[in-house]
Amino acid sequence: MEIYHTPVLLKEVLDLLNLKEDSIVVDATLGEGGHSVEILKRIPKGLLIGIDLDEEAIKKAEERLKEVGDNFVLVPSNFKEIRAIVLSNAQGATQILADLGVSSLQLEEAERGFSFMKEGPLDMRMCKPCTRYSAYDVVNTFSFEELRDIIYTYGEDPFAERIARKIVSERKKMPISTTLELADIVRSVYPKGYYRIHPATKTFQALRIFVNRELDNLKKFLEDAPLVLLPKGRIAIITYHSLEDRLVKKTFKENVSLKPVVKHVVKPTKEEISINRRSRSAKLRVYEEIG
Ligand SMILES: C[S@@+](CC[C@H](N)C(=O)[O-])C[C@H]1O[C@@H](n2cnc3c(N)ncnc32)[C@H](O)[C@@H]1O
Repeated sequence: MEIYHTPVLLKEVLDLLNLKEDSIVVDATLGEGGHSVEILKRIPKGLLIGIDLDEEAIKKAEERLKEVGDNFVLVPSNFKEIRAIVLSNAQGATQILADLGVSSLQLEEAERGFSFMKEGPLDMRMCKPCTRYSAYDVVNTFSFEELRDIIYTYGEDPFAERIARKIVSERKKMPISTTLELADIVRSVYPKGYYRIHPATKTFQALRIFVNRELDNLKKFLEDAPLVLLPKGRIAIITYHSLEDRLVKKTFKENVSLKPVVKHVVKPTKEEISINRRSRSAKLRVYEEIG
């Protein structure tokens, strides 16, 4: 079985979660199980509850986890349902992990439409049946103002207005149907030499966040996850952009039942970044339920 995703900040997560052999751990973003496989090895008398929206990811993770033990349950669901999911499997959780965003598995598969580096249909849905619009629907049917606001709000792209205008003029000629068509449109409005990262990065991030309602889901998760955390339990969140990180920091700062385990964010070492480029923007925050 081919594994695409390298778990980010793995050593730091394992150290800071303070796992015990009988821990009840929720991996709210199971993905291919990179973190969960190592967690399961450390909790032989405990329980791992793995959640992911993406059924393909769940299948892959299940294969890997079965080789380690059978003390796990996997739930194809949205992590915003964490409260109900945990309470139907245990009395609460001693550790919760969320490693947000998109996985390398999703990025690698061109037909999922997440990557501006690979030709594929404009899709970007992590879970097709639970999502109202695909990226194609947004790009081809939303108004100029809506597109501008989505790209500005969720991508924080200073050229949101130009990009939205160009999308609207191009789609009059022919629908914009592939990832590379959209990436070329975005690139064409960026001033030459302006960009350090690929000019389509922020637009793709914005569409992905909007299509999957990522910030709404995260907000609900951040409110509900501490409610199922047992006393002295820990919650670790890995974010990949400032919109997510700001939300985690603000929500948990306002939660009087949580205290930070480490004062500052934990970032990957230079060595990790050199081996796994995807880790470069990761930030880990860990909190403890004061009990
Ligand atoms: C960065 S990957 C996790 C990778 C995993 N930690 C590993 O090492 O293999 C993020 C995963 O979270 C899932 N995801 C994103 N939003 C979700 C949500 N609201 N509910 C459940 N899963 C979600 C994605 O489908 C993806 O598989």
